[in-house]
Amino acid sequence: MKNIVGRSFLTLLDFTAEEIKSLIDYSFHFKKLKQAGTQHTLCQGKNIALIFEKTSTRTRCSFEVAAYDLGMNVTYLDSSVSQIGNKESIRDTARVLGSIYDGIEYRGSSQKTVEELAQFSGVPVWNGLTDEFHPTQVLADLMTILEVRGKLQGTKLVYLGDGRFNMGRSLLIGGAKMGLHLVISSPADYFPDQELINKAHEIAKETNAILEFETDPIIATKNADFIYTDVWLSMGEPEAAWAERIEMFLPYQVNQKIMENAGPNASFLHCLPAYHDLNTTIGQKIFAEFGLEAMEVTNEVFESQNSLVFQQAENRMHTIKALMAAILRDQ
Ligand code: CP
Ligand code: NVA
Repeated sequence: MKNIVGRSFLTLLDFTAEEIKSLIDYSFHFKKLKQAGTQHTLCQGKNIALIFEKTSTRTRCSFEVAAYDLGMNVTYLDSSVSQIGNKESIRDTARVLGSIYDGIEYRGSSQKTVEELAQFSGVPVWNGLTDEFHPTQVLADLMTILEVRGKLQGTKLVYLGDGRFNMGRSLLIGGAKMGLHLVISSPADYFPDQELINKAHEIAKETNAILEFETDPIIATKNADFIYTDVWLSMGEPEAAWAERIEMFLPYQVNQKIMENAGPNASFLHCLPAYHDLNTTIGQKIFAEFGLEAMEVTNEVFESQNSLVFQQAENRMHTIKALMAAILRDQ
C-alpha cells in the first residue's frame, strides 16, 4: 500500500491515480481476509467519529463494521443528538473532536463543511457524501469494475441521469484519474460544471482517459461495459422538483432497451438506494402522482443477471476499511 498515513479524503482529487489503485488493491486484500474469516486489528485502540447530517444505510454501516474489524471504537453523531450545527459551529466541533478522535467521517450538504472539519480538527477527515462529491462510493465502484472486468483503463462506463450532483461529479474525477472511457449522458443543463470538466480534461491528458458528454442516451450507451445511474432527486433537494425531474430524466431511465443497446456484456451499477419498484414510501407517492412504477432504473434491469448493485454495495465496506487502515495504521 502506498503511504497515505494521516491524509484526509475529501474528493478523489486528493489522491494520485497510483494511490487510488493501491487503495483498491488493498481493498481486495481486506475482502479476502473477510471471506476467510481472518481477524486482524490493524488500528487497535483507535477511535473515530461518524457525523451524519443526512441519512445513510451503506456508508454508515460500512464505516462502523470496517472500524470494528480494524479494532477501532466508533461514535455516531447526527444533528438530532449532538450540538453540531445548531449550537456549535463546525470550526469549534472540529477542534473538540480532533482532540478526542483519530479520524472523522462527515456526511452533509456542503463540501465547505468537510473542508473546514479537515482544516481545524488536525486529524484525517473522510467525506461520506456532500452535494458535490461522494468519493468513498467511487472507490467501491472502481473496485467492482476491476473485479468484474479485470481492468479500468479504457473500460467504457456510461453514467445516465443527473450529472451535476455528487455521483456524476465524482465519477467524472474517478474516471479521469483511472483512465476510463467515461460518458456522462444527461440533458445539457445537468452536465457537471465547466470548471470541473476542465479539471477532468487536464487529468485525462496524463491518463489517456476518454471523457464525453452526450445528451442522447442511445448514442451514449452503445457498446458500454457498464451503465451507471443514480436517483433523479438527491437528498436535500426540494420534493417540489420531482415533476420537472421526471419529465427531464425519463429518457435516461435505465431499462431493457438501454441495456440491449449497450450490448449483452454490459453490467448495471447504482450507488443505491434505488427507486426500482413500489416498495418504498417515495416510490408509492411517485406512482400515485405520476403513474411511474420505477424511476431511474426498471425493476427488470435492477433484478437482472447483469446487475452488480449488491456486490458494489458490499465493496463499500472493503474499500472504506482499506481507506481507514491505510490512513490510520501505525507506520
Ligand atoms: N450509496 C450510499 O452512499 O448509500 P447510503 O446513502 O445508504 O449511505
Ligand atoms: N445522489 C444521491 C446519492 C446517494 C448515495 C444523493 O445525494 O442523495
